[in-house]
Parts: sequence; structure tokens; C-alpha cells
Amino acid sequence: MTTTSSSELELTLGNLPSNVIGHEEAFVDISPKTNRFQPILTVKKVSKSFPVAGGRIQAIKDIDLVINPGELVSLVGPSGCGKSTLLNIIAGLEKPDSGEVKGNRPNDKNLTGLPERLLIFQEASLFPWLTVYDNVAFGLKIRKYSKEKCRELVNKYLGMVQLSQFQDAWIHQLSGGMKQRVALARALALRPELLLMDEAFTALDVQTRQDMYRLLLRIREETGVTILFITHNVEEALLLSDRILVMRSRPGQIKREFQVNVGFPRTMEYFLLKQLRLEIIKEFMEAGDVGDIQGGSTYEQAY
Ligand SMILES: Nc1ncnc2c1ncn2[C@@H]1O[C@H](COP(=O)(O)OP(=O)(O)O)[C@@H](O)[C@H]1O
Ligand SMILES: [Mg+2]
Repeated sequence: MTTTSSSELELTLGNLPSNVIGHEEAFVDISPKTNRFQPILTVKKVSKSFPVAGGRIQAIKDIDLVINPGELVSLVGPSGCGKSTLLNIIAGLEKPDSGEVKGNRPNDKNLTGLPERLLIFQEASLFPWLTVYDNVAFGLKIRKYSKEKCRELVNKYLGMVQLSQFQDAWIHQLSGGMKQRVALARALALRPELLLMDEAFTALDVQTRQDMYRLLLRIREETGVTILFITHNVEEALLLSDRILVMRSRPGQIKREFQVNVGFPRTMEYFLLKQLRLEIIKEFMEAGDVGDIQGGSTYEQAY
């Protein structure tokens, strides 16, 4: 076994659901305890500031947010507008200065006192000393699943992310896209109530990113998992989301919400998506907030 400290583990694995039961049911793959008539997440008036030389910086201010079961919601905004701060608070890794974060049930905490939400970072943060198989099995082993059950689940989710043939590979042998697929399998195997993805596809090349979009949409269809997706790429948000929340910086706040009533799969050739893109970009331009926002140029290649 490993000697990873518990805080390191929490950071790497996010928050593991302790009461994962009933994996036998044909997915819809969310926790059987989830109340489908309640929001998966309710964020009320959440603010957070950080100490900096000569004062404090207000990272986010009065954020309100509701996510319903099965939704894929994107949070779009330029670098530094507080996206990761908000996600870390939702994941239970940071405490807000004020406001509250509520899950699906009155007491949706696991044994470590953390909520049942799993975070996937831009860098896959896998364990390099474990094989692909053991990376996916890791959280299940901690949860004391039997060897057989572990094998069944790991096989299922490695299959879902199309990595069955690579189960014995080492992490350094994988491409960036493959690493993110392992991270996805590892998170999904634990059936999180909410999957939090922080710029998870940002570091990938365009072709791999598009493969990941297709994969994520398929996984969503097969599992019904609820996703909060963070990106500074407007097109990515348009191609994947049911709803897009536009954030602005100084201080980080949600300024506008867009419903994306377009079926899947989508391409940026769709008139409605082009229109929405312009509206979203306009929001940033008006705030002088374009920064590193991607997908704003009319010359950018459509997916
Ligand atoms: N631990 C920290 N200490 C000081 N400032 C921080 C810390 N974390 C984030 N910030 C600041 O808060 C703001 C929001 O950061 P972040 O949430 O990382 O933005 P984003 O993810 O949208 O790029 C930035 O100005 C950043 O510098
Ligand atoms: Mg960030």
C-alpha cells in the first residue's frame, strides 16, 4: 500500500462517497440516495477573500447557484475571476468567509465530514507509482470494496472511457487525454453526486479536446451524472452545457445565465450557438474582461 497522507489524498481524490451502495442497478449512475426532486447543489451568497500584501483580495462575492440532478452547467469567465475558488469551496476544500453551500440531502457528508462531490483538475493528478487499473481502483479499495467488486467496477469504467487495453500501463506512458480519461474513470467509479471539472480539458490539443467532448456527452447519457464544468473557453461551454453561467472578475460574480436549448451532438455551425457565443462575448467586452477568454474570435475554427 501507499504512504500518502490523508490530506494529500483528499486533495487528489476529492471527496469520496462513503455510502456507495447498489452498484448492481443498471446505471443511471448517481448515488442511490440522491433525491431527484431536490437540487444537487445550492450555493447561497457565498463570498471569499484572500490576504495579500497590503490588504485582502475579494476573490468571489455573493455567489448564488443552483444545480439540479442530471444537469451539465458551465461556469465561464476569464482567469482570476474566482472560478477555482468557487469550485474548491463547493468541493469542501476551502471554507467561504460567508454564505452557505448545501448538497442534495440535509447531511450529505461522507465519513471524513466532506461532501460527496468529486473534483477533477486541469492536471489529472493521478498516482504515478500505480498502474491505470490501480489508480481507478484506489478509491474503491479505500472504501473497502471486495476484490471482485473492485474488478467489476474498474473494468466497467475503464471500458466506458475506452482504456481497457491500457489497464496495466503506467501513468507516464499515457498521453494527456488518456490521463484525463483515467481521472474520469476514477471519479465515476465512486458515483459522485456531483462531478466538478476545473478546466479539465484546457491543457489538451484541439483534436483531443473534441474527442473528450464526445466522450463526456456519452458518459453523461449513460450515467446521468450531474456536472459543474469550469472553463474559459466559450465554445466548449456552448457545445457541452444545458446552462452557462457567465462570471466576471473584480470581484468574481455571476453576471448572467444562458439556457442552451439545443440538442446533442452540437457543432458551432448551429445558428443559435453562434448567436449565444456573440452574446456571451459581448458580456465580457462590456466589462473589459475578455482576458484569456477563448472562442471569441470570429476567425476561430468552429468545432
Ligand atoms: N490562496 C490564495 N491566496 C491569495 N489569493 C488567491 C488565492 N487563491 C486565489 N487567489 C486570488 O483570487 C482570485 C481568483 O482566483 P481563482 O479562483 O484561482 O480564479 P480562476 O480559477 O477564475 O482563474 C485571483 O485574483 C487569485 O489571485
Ligand atoms: Mg482556475
